[in-house]
Amino acid sequence: TWTTGNVIEEQIASIREQVGTKRAICGLSGGVDSAVAAALVQKAIGSQLTCVYVDHGLMRKGETEQVEKDFVAATGVQLKVVDAQERFLTALAGVSDPETKRKIIGREFIRVFEQAQAELVAEAGAAGEAVEFLVQGTLYPDVVESGGGTGTANIKSHHNVGGLPEDLEFKLIEPLRQLFKDEVRMVGAELGLPAEIVQRQPFPGPGLGIRIVGEVTKERLDLLREADAIAREELTAAGLDNEIWQCPVVLLADVRSVGVQGDGRTYGHPIVLRPVSSEDAMTADWTRMPYEVLAKISTRITNEVKDVNRVVLDVTSKPPGTIEWE
Ligand code: XMP
Repeated sequence: TWTTGNVIEEQIASIREQVGTKRAICGLSGGVDSAVAAALVQKAIGSQLTCVYVDHGLMRKGETEQVEKDFVAATGVQLKVVDAQERFLTALAGVSDPETKRKIIGREFIRVFEQAQAELVAEAGAAGEAVEFLVQGTLYPDVVESGGGTGTANIKSHHNVGGLPEDLEFKLIEPLRQLFKDEVRMVGAELGLPAEIVQRQPFPGPGLGIRIVGEVTKERLDLLREADAIAREELTAAGLDNEIWQCPVVLLADVRSVGVQGDGRTYGHPIVLRPVSSEDAMTADWTRMPYEVLAKISTRITNEVKDVNRVVLDVTSKPPGTIEWE
């Protein structure tokens, strides 16, 4: 019979046998899958595993800290954090086109990740231990989807941040290959990962970079991070996390509208709320969420976030709209 305990035990035994005394590395994206895969491998081979986390500066409020502190505290894993914020901002300067942004973010990520991998391999090699294995959080649906081209694959260039550069020669460890997302969450909980990591809603690899319509700058990222944190806080407080599949919060950086605050005229940016209900993200409907919660989010964002004077609700299903705006 299928139990999380059985899955964990079987995987630990087979990972130990596969790896022996060699070393393994794992890229963490901040998402559920890579976190659970890493925790499982850590449980099997302990300090023979090192994780790499690339901080591209496009994460939401508190996410990098979650990986740096909570994940390490829960697993005891060895973690290498690469601060690449400047590099990503420089590469994205002046770019507004969504596909160009996606390609730049994907490319820079792979470069930074490969460099970190090479450093780790060199360090371990100096100690006489070969790094032969790469841990990936591949799930069963990923395996199925990559088998045949799906219709939506060409709509946007999805970058599974944490993905494998093609010319790297590693043997793969993919302990979640037979599992679905809900099963992965159960395994993660059983391994003692914090709920904030295990219950995370989907978040795109390119992060907030594709939730700023217009050029990505440090100021705009900071502003969007604040608005997003407020929306998430209120949705959680209202108990809506299970009903809502995910709620992108989008900054229309190139749009301004006139407002009034206190005694003065403002000329600020709109924030879009995009709460959606979905089974698998292939199709989605906009969530009919309570007006009071929308009101609270709107009031807080316009009061607390500088330069935002309007909050709008996206009432489009998918299709015709995609979930993300870019
Ligand atoms: P769309 O916008 O295509 O999004 O309706 C469908 C789902 O995919 C997520 N998404 C991504 N996930 N890398 C990812 O790992 C990406 O580049 C990416 N783009 C979109 C999106 O959040 C939604 O859950």
